[in-house]
Amino acid sequence: MEAIRWKDSTLYLLDQTRLPTIEDWLRYTDYRQVAKAIQTMVVRGAPAIGIAAAYAMVLAAQENVCKGNFPAAMSQAKAVLAASRPTAVNLFWALDRMENFWLSVGPDLPRLEEEARAIHLEDIQMNQAMGLAGAELVPHGARILTHCNAGALATGGYGTALGVIRAAHAQGKVSMVYADETRPLLQGARLTAYELVRDQIPVTLICDNMAGCLMAQGKIDLVVVGCDRMAANGDFANKIGTYSLAVLAKHHGIPFYTALPSSTIDRSIPNGSCIPVEQRGGEEVTGLAGVPTAPLGVETWNPAFDVTPHQLLTAAITERGVLRPPFVESLSYSSGR
Ligand code: MRU
Repeated sequence: MEAIRWKDSTLYLLDQTRLPTIEDWLRYTDYRQVAKAIQTMVVRGAPAIGIAAAYAMVLAAQENVCKGNFPAAMSQAKAVLAASRPTAVNLFWALDRMENFWLSVGPDLPRLEEEARAIHLEDIQMNQAMGLAGAELVPHGARILTHCNAGALATGGYGTALGVIRAAHAQGKVSMVYADETRPLLQGARLTAYELVRDQIPVTLICDNMAGCLMAQGKIDLVVVGCDRMAANGDFANKIGTYSLAVLAKHHGIPFYTALPSSTIDRSIPNGSCIPVEQRGGEEVTGLAGVPTAPLGVETWNPAFDVTPHQLLTAAITERGVLRPPFVESLSYSSGR
């Protein structure tokens, strides 16, 4: 399964706002439209946002290669893309990598395209590597809880948290995956359940407020989630609700893991308090699929992410293996930002 394609110098994105009922591929030739697709979550998930932005920089180069002042036009494109969503560091990592590349090779379209493709391909390879590393942590007969969607749709392919689950399932270790529906935008119900059902991995969909009860009944062996940005000390941002799960897991003595590629590590910030958390519109809270579920005019609070302190994290699963506390030391290898 994939959500991003590059063909004939054109970007195609699977519209994730319409899944699981409609599979619609949208075509992009203008980087400004890609910035809009990131903002409106046609494409979402930290690594996928970075990959889409890398291809968008190729679109910007195509538009400006024959015009004067290529550097200024590329800087403008980078700024527009960087303003699309603030939390996932992969966006800024990919934009910096593309910028460094064109600064060194100049307006060389085939090579820029090759670099964006490399970012895409490397992401899939990192996911497969972290899948194998993470599967080692999964006991036989495991009942696993996950939140949001950290799957093929959120990445170049295969997935981070779902990559671990896919690898463990291939080894015959997974007895059940519990997928939180993940309000307000239902990435767990619409995307994670969709991926797992398609791959015939056993999945049970639950409402977010059922996780604690499942844990209390002894029905969860481990939790694995994705990550949007990890600070140098191991604090990390992920979909809103992740922090509550981490607290619940700690209380019940259940291992709590995040899976992330090195492009999600931001060692330029010392801890989670420095992570910019995106605030989204109240209409996501006051309605479901466009249908109002709350009284008109009610106040809302809608942070798209929360920050889980490293003290609640059992280990971080990366393409280089499983990192354990103290994370300041185990993360120091990283080539992230
Ligand atoms: O708002 P979203 O859907 O982009 O949030 C996605 C998540 O929080 C994922 O868990 C995270 O990006 C990791 S994806 C491999």
